[in-house]
Amino acid sequence: MNITTDFLVIGSGIAGLSYALKVADFGQVAVVTKREISETATNLAQGGIASVLSSEDSFAAHVRDTMVAGVYLSDEDVVRMVVQRGPQAIADLINWGVRFSKKDDDTYDLTREGGHSRRRILHAKDMTGQEIERALVEAARNHPNITIYEHHICIDLITDAKAGSSEKRSNRCLGAHVLDIESRKVQTFGARVTVLATGGAGKVYLYTCNPDVATGDGIAMAYRAGATIADMEFMQFHPTTLYHPKAKSFLISESVRGEGAILRRRDGTAFMDQYHELKDLAPRDITARAIDNEMKIHGDESVFLDITHRDPEYIRNRFPHIYETCLKYGIDITTEAIPVVPAAHYVCGGVKVDKWGESDLVNLFAIGEVACTGLHGANRLASNSLLEGVVFAELVAQRSLGRIKEKHEVVPQVKPWDYGKATDSDEEVVVAHNWDEIRRCMWNYVGIVRTNKRLKRALRRLQMIKEEITEYYWDFYPTSDLIELRNIATVAELIVRCARQRRESRGLHYNIDYPERDDVHWKKDTLIRKKL
Ligand code: SIN
Repeated sequence: MNITTDFLVIGSGIAGLSYALKVADFGQVAVVTKREISETATNLAQGGIASVLSSEDSFAAHVRDTMVAGVYLSDEDVVRMVVQRGPQAIADLINWGVRFSKKDDDTYDLTREGGHSRRRILHAKDMTGQEIERALVEAARNHPNITIYEHHICIDLITDAKAGSSEKRSNRCLGAHVLDIESRKVQTFGARVTVLATGGAGKVYLYTCNPDVATGDGIAMAYRAGATIADMEFMQFHPTTLYHPKAKSFLISESVRGEGAILRRRDGTAFMDQYHELKDLAPRDITARAIDNEMKIHGDESVFLDITHRDPEYIRNRFPHIYETCLKYGIDITTEAIPVVPAAHYVCGGVKVDKWGESDLVNLFAIGEVACTGLHGANRLASNSLLEGVVFAELVAQRSLGRIKEKHEVVPQVKPWDYGKATDSDEEVVVAHNWDEIRRCMWNYVGIVRTNKRLKRALRRLQMIKEEITEYYWDFYPTSDLIELRNIATVAELIVRCARQRRESRGLHYNIDYPERDDVHWKKDTLIRKKL
């Protein structure tokens, strides 16, 4: 089946839905999403969204905190622009129906997180993402021009080059091939403008607090289509996820530390004062590395996050989701410290885009975690990502609305999917085995602390697995497991290749063989582009 639309949005988190809502009055929007619409990383975000909203804060302070956390690799113009557009982005969310937590005096309750010098995080208790997703989904479902395709997974982007077009103007993106997971048919979406809002890639690692959908699909598809990918070595490990055999890496929000929680060793000693002057509110790269170091030195399986000194009623009211979830696992956070470990959380690199969110493929835009806009540099400042999603949704909307008014941008005609000689797979075990092998390899060799030898080993293994997947891929009908496996293999390789390029340690990339920061040679992005 062929579907044509003005705007094809791939992904249904804060970035994709904000964009859809901004352009829907001007054309038809198709939102394609792999599972149910709310199964996104946005929905799991606990902490909140950063913006300068208090008279005790300033744009300059937010810019400075972002630059410091990003170890001066961020593009300062982009940082300034995002920070200055923050209050408008918050107003957009409130207009769409988001209800942020307020204090008794009816002003917004601002919290703090690691790396922030001021209280500037708006939140909805400890379920901020869920509240944002609720409001945006409701608004999107009610808009007559937005059609939502749930349980549809993109296989690949369609470009001039791949479609064999005689257009030599440039490599334009024309839409995407999409698998309808229920009918198992591949549909062809032709679009004037294609927007990747597919989120991150935490599932590349064995331990992650990301949802199962975070398989780096947008990054892998853009790479295969010939777009430039940047800074993939900067995978952020969240310092504190619940350590419990039955919990699937449940996040313990950094705002718990923002409200006074202290990291302790098994014997109760606080340790963050040995690593950073901001102690428990140090930037994430430093905190995660400190925890990793403490666990290795003392041979412990976790460290402990202690908020028991705060009033139990306050804890239950401010962190109801974390309180209830921990209690389910037998931990009462009002009376005992929470066992925590780091886990893969956020990829700071991604599809390299310009200040309007456009990749180097014409009409292919990227917003949110899938994109590398220059905001996060070598380490994202907590709660800047939801903000980036809304701000760039506006910029991409402005640019793409201009685009569809240009005369030549007729909805492209694209060829249907070619099934070739594909049959049903007879060896699903290959897919399951390769998933596991990639994730273990990345955790063991490309984690918080890296070495040249480990990176080389990882690359060798990943390349072998990738060859196997490619052989398998074209012989069988596509399934979502297979599509995602192909994507995590590509993204894992991109992370290793970027990590091998960067011969220094900076932010989230720490290599024992180059332990120092090298501003002379490496104050720049790592870039990778596939030769087509
Ligand atoms: C958290 O609540 O700690 C996550 C916030 C973020 O990653 O920005």
